[in-house]
Amino acid sequence: MKIAVLPGDGIGPEIVAQAVKVLDVLAKDGLKIELEYGDIGGAGYDAAGDPYPAATSKLAIDADAVLLGAVGGYRYDSLPRPMRPEQGLLRIRKELGLFANLRPAVLYPELASASSLKPEVVAGLDIMILRELTGDIYFGQPRGLRRTPDGEREGFDTMLYSESEIARIAHVGFGTAMKRGKRLCSVDKANVLETSVLWREVVMEVAKNYPEIELSHMYVDNAAMQLVRNPKQFDVILTGNMFGDILSDEASMLTGSIGMLPSASLDAHGKGLYEPIHGSAPDIAGQNIANPLATILSVAMMMRHTFGNEAAAARIENAVKKTLAEGLRTSDIHQEGMRKVGTREMGDAVAARL
Ligand code: IPM
Ligand code: MG
Repeated sequence: MKIAVLPGDGIGPEIVAQAVKVLDVLAKDGLKIELEYGDIGGAGYDAAGDPYPAATSKLAIDADAVLLGAVGGYRYDSLPRPMRPEQGLLRIRKELGLFANLRPAVLYPELASASSLKPEVVAGLDIMILRELTGDIYFGQPRGLRRTPDGEREGFDTMLYSESEIARIAHVGFGTAMKRGKRLCSVDKANVLETSVLWREVVMEVAKNYPEIELSHMYVDNAAMQLVRNPKQFDVILTGNMFGDILSDEASMLTGSIGMLPSASLDAHGKGLYEPIHGSAPDIAGQNIANPLATILSVAMMMRHTFGNEAAAARIENAVKKTLAEGLRTSDIHQEGMRKVGTREMGDAVAARL
């Protein structure tokens, strides 16, 4: 297992170090794991003047999987756009063809009261958001800033999806639903956007190959509302890049903390980039208080989706459950009566329970 490790910025290095403890245990138990480190985001800019340095690109292309922390920091906010940390993330996704972004929102029973919603609304929550990751308004051309003939400034972006882009993510969506509750809700804005009209049409065409799946469609504004009204109505949510960005942040809060949610970004052949869905949290970087569980759970997803090692995946997930059941909590999920621990202690605790 050749894994490129890209810690990135802010809390990235701290949380990735905890996930590496988990990989070390698996390696000691016999898995052949090879780690190679690279810079991305602000760290890439500092090291090589580029948020996605050529050396990192080579490392990522050569690896079977990528483990990423997070990118971004105040220091880089005023750089010109091509040099900003976020560009590193967008470029690696695009270059590796990581079009399928799996963002599960699972509530651990121990954290039901950490959710901002009533426990009975979220108890047992287990939804999968499948976000298309290499198209849409994130990448559509043309885009830019210009002046109108009257001299007024104008900004513009292009929302764009081709039929083949929609079809391939739809196939992943139906395939994902087949392995779960067999329900797929496609989220779009077909009452307003042409892109969404095509999206809906193509999803319905692909659906003909999956007669067992119950397909529904929902407008994105309604989906945002339904996620906080009755999130358990969903099994798999299939959506585009921008709607998925927004809805996955919203869904994360249902589970108590954005610090709990892992993600997988896959290409057509199972190669993947694995990262927590949260950001680099520069305000708490270096203080040993960040929650490393989303990154550790991202390693579980890596074992499952890239290496097909379900046993290792389940082992990591069970170690996390056991750690939570025993009352260990980082401050983002801490409640009275629980044992508050730091980033490193949480990593050690999970590694010990493996
Ligand atoms: C995410 C992030 C990124 C995105 C940013 C950092 C570019 O918000 O992974 O959800 O918008 O995709
Ligand atoms: Mg986001």
